[in-house]
Amino acid sequence: MSIADCILIKLPEIKDSRGNLSFIESNKNIPFEIKRIYYIYEVPVNQERAAHAHKELNQIIFCLSGSLEIVLDDGSNKKTIILDSPSEGLFMSSKIWRDIKFCKKSSLCMVVADQYYDENDYIREYELFKNFLQIN
Ligand code: TYD
Repeated sequence: MSIADCILIKLPEIKDSRGNLSFIESNKNIPFEIKRIYYIYEVPVNQERAAHAHKELNQIIFCLSGSLEIVLDDGSNKKTIILDSPSEGLFMSSKIWRDIKFCKKSSLCMVVADQYYDENDYIREYELFKNFLQIN
């Protein structure tokens, strides 16, 4: 997996005078079956989170409110993405290191995942991530 596999996914937006509505459907407008949804909120401004990679887990991250700065790193290249639209998600594949900064007050991050929570799937040290890439 490389950072080129980490693409933005535009959700449908249904707009009328009452406001906007977007939706996510497993295997339809996202490329996997959702097994888990989690969200991160009430994060101090400019606080960084994540700082890990996953061995197998694929996820899509949404910024439902506020703004997130996401740095993706495949061990060779990095790219930075600002996520600030609730109708846009960033597909983050396995084997990608990610750092996520919460840039605004009340930023709300929602993540949909293709696996249940498993701490054994995490790589939380950058050197271990580089080693993992060499043998996988
Ligand atoms: P952590 O992975 O450190 O959060 P982040 O990557 O956003 O900085 O997760 C914080 C804690 O929450 C950690 O003890 C693992 C736990 N956790 C769950 O129990 N279930 C989950 O689905 C997730 C994502 C985390």
